[in-house]
Amino acid sequence: MTPSIQERIARLIRQQGGRGDALIEVLHQVQELEGYLSPTSLRQVAKGLGLPLSRVQGVASFYHLFRLEAPTPHRCAVCLGTACFVKGGADLAKALERYLGVRLDDAAGNGTWALQHVSCLGACGQAPVLVVDGAMQTHLPVDHPDALQQRFAIAGLPEPVASAAQEPW
Ligand code: FES
Repeated sequence: MTPSIQERIARLIRQQGGRGDALIEVLHQVQELEGYLSPTSLRQVAKGLGLPLSRVQGVASFYHLFRLEAPTPHRCAVCLGTACFVKGGADLAKALERYLGVRLDDAAGNGTWALQHVSCLGACGQAPVLVVDGAMQTHLPVDHPDALQQRFAIAGLPEPVASAAQEPW
């Protein structure tokens, strides 16, 4: 955490009057500043609001909208809504896990890429659907590994990890 972020967090806490009942509001604002809630910022919030660190950590980990891992530079979202699932969305997710060397819904990913699932992107007629760094990819050829790998490359995904290159997928 940079000194300027530390100072801005201190200002947020002062603006809330250092009140413990402002915890969720403060955590929201800190996440907007940092992109996630780091251990350092959680300690600063706990101290500033006069709350036990365990309580602040408990609230931060309870609500899904709070992120406790730094966001990766690149993100991939695979749709597992009904239409995409029926068209092979689960197989697409497995292929992406192998290709990127990450686990689905592990926010830390491989440090560069993270893969998450979403429930529906409103493009059911173009299933299965994938989003790579905000750009939607549709009609992914799940049953054709070579074509699928070409589509991954066109979408901007990196070369597959070494172990994935050896696996037939
Ligand atoms: S279910 Fe995937 S876009 Fe709707």
